[in-house]
Amino acid sequence: MSAASYVRATALSELEDDTPKRVELDGVPVAVVRTEGQVFAINDICSHANVSLSEGEVEDCQIECWLHGSSFDLRSGKPSGPPATRPVPVYPVKIEGDDVLVSVTQES
Ligand code: FES
Repeated sequence: MSAASYVRATALSELEDDTPKRVELDGVPVAVVRTEGQVFAINDICSHANVSLSEGEVEDCQIECWLHGSSFDLRSGKPSGPPATRPVPVYPVKIEGDDVLVSVTQES
């Protein structure tokens, strides 16, 4: 198996704390979130309906879907409660200098 390939998602300096940034990597919509001193990458589409998670609020390492209020853990993608029951894919992130690199070929 080949190693996960990372692509540049954004610059670290462009990310504001708790303000998700939506990017598209290899055709995959991804919300990149800087919070609590770390950067996370989570699929931008809620597992409940076709809603962009990057338009939601970030709190306690979770991103909230604005439509029906399920929150997803940025580390695992798991929903904290209904109506969503399925997790959202999360992706490995690497920081190199000011570059935020994300691998959408490998779910973490
Ligand atoms: S669309 Fe996200 S919780 Fe319903």
